[in-house]
Amino acid sequence: MLRKLVLAALALLLGGFLLIQLVPYGRDHTNPPVVQEPAWDSPTTRALTMRACGDCHSNETVWPWYSHIAPVSWLVYRDTVEGRHHFNVSEWNNPRGGEDAAETVIKGEMPPAIYLLAHPEARLSPAERDQLIAGLLATFGGEGRSENAQPEQGEVEEGD
Ligand code: HEC
Repeated sequence: MLRKLVLAALALLLGGFLLIQLVPYGRDHTNPPVVQEPAWDSPTTRALTMRACGDCHSNETVWPWYSHIAPVSWLVYRDTVEGRHHFNVSEWNNPRGGEDAAETVIKGEMPPAIYLLAHPEARLSPAERDQLIAGLLATFGGEGRSENAQPEQGEVEEGD
């Protein structure tokens, strides 16, 4: 009896898993063209940014095999669309987010922890992290020169 229940549950799970593969959301992995990059202060800054941020903040996303499998595909797709929307170094003809870039690294918000679990190559050593922060500040400006940077005054939260 128990065995039958377990088998039925497994069959349901498997069926569900197969069914969600039919959902079209998140399957479009065509990268838009690279239109214009920022005026990087150095090739190192560009390399570190592409390594740690490029999958979600450029049009040169590398889509791993699991990004084709739901439900992970939905998360990866959403992160990429959202990430590009806030800050996209391949569309610097329409610059956005640059002034916050260094700060997100200083605060440890970017790259997201869950991304680093799946992408050990995007992890930065403390020295690389410092180099990236300095490079982002030199390229984009922005807050975060020191730990006790003043909170921005009169900044309007942009809605989604
Ligand atoms: C796994 C995908 C992913 C990676 C990798 C990633 N980001 Fe993000 N980033 C996002 C998403 C999603 C958002 C928008 C939602 C949010 O703010 O959390 C975002 C938002 C941002 C923003 C706008 C936030 C704001 O306060 O305006 C900046 C700037 C940013 N990221 C910089 C970076 C930098 C710099 C790196 C690399 C060190 C990086 N991100 C790596 C997904 C990513």
